[in-house]
Amino acid sequence: MDIKEELEELKKKVSVEIDKSSSVDLIENIRVHLLGKKGDLTKILKGLKDLDPREKPVVGQMANKIRTQLETMISQKKHILEENKLDAQLASEKIDVTLPGETFQIGTKHVLQQIQDQIEDHFLSQGYQVMYGREIETDEYNFERMNLPKDHPARDMQDTFYLTPNVLLRTQTSAMQARAMDKHDFSTGPLKMISPGKVYRRDNDDATHSHQFHQIEGLVVGKKITLADLKGTLQALTDELFGKGHAMRFRQSYFPFTEPSLEVDISWNTVDKNTASQDIEWIEVLGAGMVHPNVLKMANIDPEEYSGFAFGLGPDRFAMIKYGIDDIRNFYLDDLRFLKQFCQVGE
Ligand code: DAH
Repeated sequence: MDIKEELEELKKKVSVEIDKSSSVDLIENIRVHLLGKKGDLTKILKGLKDLDPREKPVVGQMANKIRTQLETMISQKKHILEENKLDAQLASEKIDVTLPGETFQIGTKHVLQQIQDQIEDHFLSQGYQVMYGREIETDEYNFERMNLPKDHPARDMQDTFYLTPNVLLRTQTSAMQARAMDKHDFSTGPLKMISPGKVYRRDNDDATHSHQFHQIEGLVVGKKITLADLKGTLQALTDELFGKGHAMRFRQSYFPFTEPSLEVDISWNTVDKNTASQDIEWIEVLGAGMVHPNVLKMANIDPEEYSGFAFGLGPDRFAMIKYGIDDIRNFYLDDLRFLKQFCQVGE
């Protein structure tokens, strides 16, 4: 076979292959086998140098023509195959915009956070500042500055988790009273603050006890602050939280950091399921009192000139009363069936 025949043969063979090839990869393969360094056309063209010098230009021209023709066929076919591939891909990835969207759940505030927010809003509107304290406290602020020296028997009720002999997980937000008094500049006016947060105690968890719970402390120190101010403040708070119309009852109590000390109950109308007879129940909601002179003195405040009231309430307990929840552990178990009952729509 002479070189011209070889070229013709090659053209025929490759044309058929191009025709038959059904993928971009295959066509790329053909191109490499034909035109690559060791490709069929390159091999044939190597034989040109042995030809009669008169024939060389004729065969050379022919070879170039065949090469251009095949190249064109290859690129056309490649283009078609690429388009087909894209069409197939588009068809398979078609998005049905009419399908319903995926639903996902949006969280809402925990019921305890809702109560805390409500109490914060209430006091902010009355000119109080909100101070978030530290959960890891010193013995000094948690106990001593609250008039509970080292060997005070009332410490027994507030055993806690110690990090070192003098550093502990706070047992009461009352620790923030002393910090607030230390910080406040009394020449600017009275101190009015609330301090919400978690507290800890060594306790055996049951329906009404948890080793970790929440408190909100309140403190007002200024000139001529009286028990009447405390009463009015607490009445406004319970009106807000439980609705107007609940009577309050103050019972004498004891806390080392207040004198006098009080426990406060609110009235609750109950209906006996069996007899339908109505009754009034008293429910304890918080502890309070007038700030003990020792506590003021330890903060370098003159008890002859200044006085104050303080209170400490448990939002956990408030929520239990308000919503009729009978087990404090529900707040901490993350059971969605429980939590969903307090979903705030739109939050
Ligand atoms: N800290 C007290 C407790 O944890 C609660 C309390 C009672 C706080 C009376 C007060 C208060 O500020 O005046 O049991």
